[in-house]
Amino acid sequence: MVLITGGAGYIGTHTLIELANAGYNFIVYDNLSNSSRESLSRAEQIIKKDITFIEGDIRDSEKLDSIFREYKIDSVIHFAGLKAVGESVQKPLDYYDNNISGTVKLLESMNKVNCKKIIFSSSATVYGDPKVVPITEESDVGVGLTNPYGRSKYFIEEILKDLYRSDSSWKIIILRYFNPVGAHSSGLIGEDPNGVPNNLMPYITQVAVGKLKYLNVFGDDYPTDDGTGVRDYIHVVDLANGHLKALEYIDRLKNIEIFNLGTGVGYSVLDMISAFKKASGKEIEYKIAPRRDGDIAACYADSTYATDRLKWIAKRDIEDMCRESWNWQSKNPNGYSK
Ligand code: NAD
Ligand code: UFG
Repeated sequence: MVLITGGAGYIGTHTLIELANAGYNFIVYDNLSNSSRESLSRAEQIIKKDITFIEGDIRDSEKLDSIFREYKIDSVIHFAGLKAVGESVQKPLDYYDNNISGTVKLLESMNKVNCKKIIFSSSATVYGDPKVVPITEESDVGVGLTNPYGRSKYFIEEILKDLYRSDSSWKIIILRYFNPVGAHSSGLIGEDPNGVPNNLMPYITQVAVGKLKYLNVFGDDYPTDDGTGVRDYIHVVDLANGHLKALEYIDRLKNIEIFNLGTGVGYSVLDMISAFKKASGKEIEYKIAPRRDGDIAACYADSTYATDRLKWIAKRDIEDMCRESWNWQSKNPNGYSK
């Protein structure tokens, strides 16, 4: 049995489908602070099975302890956390409490019942402004981080390393995601941000569907080919499949291991606008705006380590990502709320 914390969220719902298709049993644990039950009912439609869902917070040790006592949980995929970069600058303590204290409480509950396998959602943000791209797992981390969200991911990685140093019977995989976009091909589940989206793809899809007037392109004077920011966009279903591969691999771990999950290809903001237009037939109006604080010029992954070890590779291209983001948004203009 796998416990999926934050399993009602964007990446969690896509991952549970991969797990269900591979025959894994799992429980979703989520406080629904950034999601709803509707995402899980949609996932149930896709997998044609009921999902065991327990509403709760990872900071609630009593509840976690009772779940670990009641179910024979073998491993945990830990998605639960707050993830809005800008909000983290405004509310650092909320981010440290939710992400860091929450993770520590989860690890304590796991320890009590000797459940010592965990896959943790980290982020390319831990690399700060990388000196060299593509970024390998050996690149510096924790230097030049610009916000509490990024620091919370970095601190949790360090906590996991300390835990492993203290007890090498833990099996810990850290996955550093690049920029997840796209949606399940059914169009039933996808990314459903609260309010005005911070991230590029949901902003583009909301312009396309008419909810927002135009996209602000944050800076056109970066040292990139067209001057706009370059990122490694990865289809969320490929990312979800990376968790399945990690789960299949976890028993063979000889050390704590870290994997980049990206495609290895960088696209600029203007590339994304034109790829989206091609995939959806929709014109995306945009204006060049000043750079956004804390943004970097270019960030893309070297994911060969994940390919070698996990036998994982991102299969979906930019056209798939744009087409399926649009499929989700056009079928669900208001996300999960009808
Ligand atoms: P999401 O917000 O859609 O999903 C996170 C889920 O965790 C939500 O359902 C939320 O309700 C739940 N949650 C939050 N705090 C909780 C708590 N204290 N107890 C229980 N549940 C809680 O986000 P996502 O995009 O699916 O991201 C999943 C994980 O991946 C996060 O840890 C995020 O930081 C990380 N990540 C995301 C991205 C991205 O761009 N989406 C990039 C890198 C890393
Ligand atoms: N961008 C715009 N206009 C927008 C939104 C974004 O031009 O309205 C640009 C950004 O300047 C950047 C690119 O689009 O060049 C991508 O921006 P996102 O906000 O979509 O993604 P980031 O790379 O800034 O950050 C994301 C997540 C972080 C995570 C990081 C690395 O938001 O949580 O990827 O995984 F840490």
